[in-house]
Amino acid sequence: MPTRRVMVTGAAGQLGGVICEQFGGGHDDYDVTALTRADLDLTDHDAVQRAVHDTQPGLIINCAAYNRVDDAEDDAVAALAVNAFAVRSLARAATRVGAILVHYSTDFVFDGTAGVPYTEADEPNPGNVYGSSKLIGEWFALDVPSAYVIRVESLFGGSPARSSVDWIIDAILGRREVRVFTDRIVSPSYVHDVARATRSLVESDAATGLFHCVNSGHGTWWEVAEEIARQVGAEPRLVPASLETARLRAARPRYCALSNAKLSAAGVALKSWQDALRRHLRSRRSVD
Ligand SMILES: NC(=O)c1ccc[n+]([C@@H]2O[C@H](COP(=O)([O-])OP(=O)(O)OC[C@H]3O[C@@H](n4cnc5c(N)ncnc54)[C@H](OP(=O)(O)O)[C@@H]3O)[C@@H](O)[C@H]2O)c1
Repeated sequence: MPTRRVMVTGAAGQLGGVICEQFGGGHDDYDVTALTRADLDLTDHDAVQRAVHDTQPGLIINCAAYNRVDDAEDDAVAALAVNAFAVRSLARAATRVGAILVHYSTDFVFDGTAGVPYTEADEPNPGNVYGSSKLIGEWFALDVPSAYVIRVESLFGGSPARSSVDWIIDAILGRREVRVFTDRIVSPSYVHDVARATRSLVESDAATGLFHCVNSGHGTWWEVAEEIARQVGAEPRLVPASLETARLRAARPRYCALSNAKLSAAGVALKSWQDALRRHLRSRRSVD
């Protein structure tokens, strides 16, 4: 395979850093240009066109996002600027240079009223500003002739470690109380598995389009916390919380399990979230 030029935006984020490692780390197949917000503000349309024109990437991987779900309720303009209009800028630039665009989205495009894992064919119906902004971003991304929109969920395992999973791990290891939802059902995504799956997908013959990319299976946050405690061998101090009593500014979907059957059919299988947790805990121990 000839060397492929890859532009990664949002490169300093939790997923962005791992994507850069996956495509850059010692592989001669890829020549990675990693751009943080300081390098390229994606809300500057002209700067995005210039950067893509100058780099001439064959692949653009957008890991940037406005992820502050509660703040977005009071700052829709900022959320839309990054999650929707910046994606439109990238999509236009990608189309101009004939690049494939990879863009990440979220389970929050769904309203959470399902009872079985959501598939790519299910109708989105976001219940908050963040989810709406991400859904519009999906539409702009899918305008590119070759685009993969990859929905991930409850990411963990990146750096900086600011995920809910790491928050719970830290509390359990520190013998502190931690409030966890007993009624939110999730399929967590381990960033290293997402990065590997992204690479496998773009190297596969799979048709471009929308894919769910989560670790297999699902559970309540309570079950996730119990599994963490079991794996680290600690007695957790879990305090039950529910969506009804949590009083969060942005409404959260209750049922967020995503099916990764389509990804699996494309030849990209992801291990269970319990297996991913085990690998994450092992890697945390090795750097402590
Ligand atoms: N985290 C999750 O649990 C989760 C769940 C579902 C979906 N996702 C999606 O997965 C993707 C990766 O998320 P993540 O957790 O890795 O996000 P993250 O850690 O918050 O990283 C996002 C990055 O985007 C950068 N950014 C923000 N505004 C920008 C702008 N105007 N121009 C350029 N860069 C900008 C941020 O820079 P600053 O730090 O300087 O602001 C940050 O480095 C996103 O599409 C997200 O919506 C994440």
